[in-house]
Amino acid sequence: MTSNKKTILITDDDESLRRVIEYNLSNSGYRLLLASNGEEALDIFKSEDVDIVITDIKMEKMDGLELLENIKRLNSNALVIMITAYGSVETAVKAMKLGAYDYITKPFDRDELQIMIEKGLNLQNLMSENLRLKQELAYRFKLDNVIGDSSKMKSIFDLVARVAKSDSSVLLQGESGTGKELIARAIHFNSLRAKKPFVTVNCSAIPENLMESEMFGYVKGAFTGAIKDKSGKFEAADGGTIFLDEIGDMDRDLQVKLLRVLQEKSIDKVGATQNSFVDVRVITATNISLETAIKEGKFREDLFYRISVIPILLPPLRDRKDDIPLLAQHFLSKHGSENCKMLPEVFEILNRYDWPGNVRELENIIERAIVLKKKENVIGAEEIPEHIRTKQFYSPISLEIPDEGIKLEEVERGLIINALKKSGQNQTRAAELLGITRNTLIYRLEKYKIK
Ligand SMILES: Nc1ncnc2c1ncn2[C@@H]1O[C@H](COP(=O)(O)OP(=O)(O)OP(=O)(O)O)[C@@H](O)[C@H]1O
Ligand SMILES: [Mg+2]
Repeated sequence: MTSNKKTILITDDDESLRRVIEYNLSNSGYRLLLASNGEEALDIFKSEDVDIVITDIKMEKMDGLELLENIKRLNSNALVIMITAYGSVETAVKAMKLGAYDYITKPFDRDELQIMIEKGLNLQNLMSENLRLKQELAYRFKLDNVIGDSSKMKSIFDLVARVAKSDSSVLLQGESGTGKELIARAIHFNSLRAKKPFVTVNCSAIPENLMESEMFGYVKGAFTGAIKDKSGKFEAADGGTIFLDEIGDMDRDLQVKLLRVLQEKSIDKVGATQNSFVDVRVITATNISLETAIKEGKFREDLFYRISVIPILLPPLRDRKDDIPLLAQHFLSKHGSENCKMLPEVFEILNRYDWPGNVRELENIIERAIVLKKKENVIGAEEIPEHIRTKQFYSPISLEIPDEGIKLEEVERGLIINALKKSGQNQTRAAELLGITRNTLIYRLEKYKIK
């Protein structure tokens, strides 16, 4: 029966040593497989699900190094521990270069090998977790996860799908919380560069004096403290996409350097005498108006043209309130409450509000409501923050309500009389002023007994 026990393949041509290792590991809960030479080990590796290979280096037929190379060719993530004889450091180094996970020198005790195996298994776990997260991330930023039903958002999706396949520079503009970063990721993960890195640089978060080396890297000795070469974000993004967030905050000197990178597709590391080629797609974002920044002399016009080959303007949420129900449902699911219902009164409140923090603010409010809700699967007005709940209906003549309250019918009566006065008793015009039909007006005149 196979279980979730980890499998370890022990390869050694010395039978007594093989037995000793097997004995030492016999109580550690692993499944142990034995091979007496490289060829045999390789056959087992191909047919079994092996987690770690432990192999002696010196063996007849296929030696440990050759076995290592063959295994790495089959699975570059495989963990191989080499057993070396005392004094053969050179071979051990060679093995490490070929991708061995570690080496252990004979004679070794039980704990030493045991600890090495545990560490290896932990690393393997981390690597597969990392892979899983990467895949999940790729999934999360597929376009399907950018929500929007309004015609404004639909045309943005359309544009994104088309530009994703190209290498053109994209400039995302929009207020805070409108989804600029989300769209940047969607573009990358729907592009041909999806399997390569997506690297973010926040131009306002990094101090100006560090920004250049952060972006382009430096060479050893470029300045005091540069004790070895360091690569920058552009190199890290090679083959993929770099996302320069808050580009409007970039210092002018650096703007010149960035422009050169974009024009020449090569970077100058700080202190380097030669430049190096990089293949990077650039996406930028800003929530300030670059046009204004250009007028104020804070942003270079030539750089603006370079980065805004495809400009995308993300509309504020208040201009696409049709998206609120769908977004709300999306955030309920995202926070594990897909079965939760929001009462109509909640949608009324959400619709009335003008959303200065845009989609981010909506998400926060829904997350908060999920935590606060008193009934299992219902969100009502009480769960919405006070300042949003009490927001006045949008009113062109904003009427204050006194503490003792009002009579709505009296207000309506008053407004009708005012409209008639303003129109010089012309009923058609008065109805127009009130946004109702003449028939409705006549009906109300009778209802309120207005002569
Ligand atoms: N259309 C959308 N569909 C789903 N989630 C969205 C959408 N737009 C924004 N969000 C969510 O709202 C939050 C804010 O979005 P994002 O960080 O992309 O905004 P931003 O425009 O970069 O804001 P800022 O300028 O403050 O950095 C994120 O959690 C994001 O997932
Ligand atoms: Mg952002």
